Amino acid sequence: MKYFIGAISVIVLLIIGYFIFIYSGMYNISAMDHHNKMTLWMMNTVRENSIKHNADDKIKMPVLSDDSLVKMGFVHYREMCVSCHGAPGIKQSEFAEGLYPNPPMLSKVAKDWTPQQLFWITKNGLKMTGMPAFGPTHTDDMIWAIIAFTKKLPTLTKEQYQALDNETKDENDEVDEHTH
Ligand code: HEC
Repeated sequence: MKYFIGAISVIVLLIIGYFIFIYSGMYNISAMDHHNKMTLWMMNTVRENSIKHNADDKIKMPVLSDDSLVKMGFVHYREMCVSCHGAPGIKQSEFAEGLYPNPPMLSKVAKDWTPQQLFWITKNGLKMTGMPAFGPTHTDDMIWAIIAFTKKLPTLTKEQYQALDNETKDENDEVDEHTH
């Protein structure tokens, strides 16, 4: 009985502590106050395993090396991703520098993910980060084009990125939305 009361008291105290923590405002929500190592480990592990668990390995996908698909993906990337994720020769914009978690350079990290995982991330977005879901505004075909380009990013030089930029000067995401 003594132990039972002890256990119940601990649980009640934990619940009270939990609500004090939530209502008091003691947690610093500032994006400049970075997570401690424990929280960071927890969030990164949850994120990585969630992406691996939810991405569909067997999803039907187009041939990603197709040049016209890569070019179409580039136009979307320039419109919607480069300001946060940068590209060879292009830094992320100032607003993206202030995001926490900070958007990584996809030219560095895209190779860590399979195309199916990249597709899942781009379609669904990542909760409680600045990473938007593009599923509500883009068809699967468009998202695959973006992935085709994203997979190519780590191999691109500054000059090749610039060349693609020049070749597609008059095309933009809006035009694509209406023609596809
Ligand atoms: C407003 C800023 C913003 C825009 C725009 C944006 N992202 Fe992100 N993205 C983020 C942030 C922030 C993260 C990191 C989230 C985290 O650490 O959990 C991220 C993470 C990712 C990741 C996972 C990378 C990794 O290894 O952690 C991929 C892939 C990605 N974004 C793809 C895209 C693509 C493709 C586009 C354009 C269609 C895009 N993002 C547009 C902010 C953005």
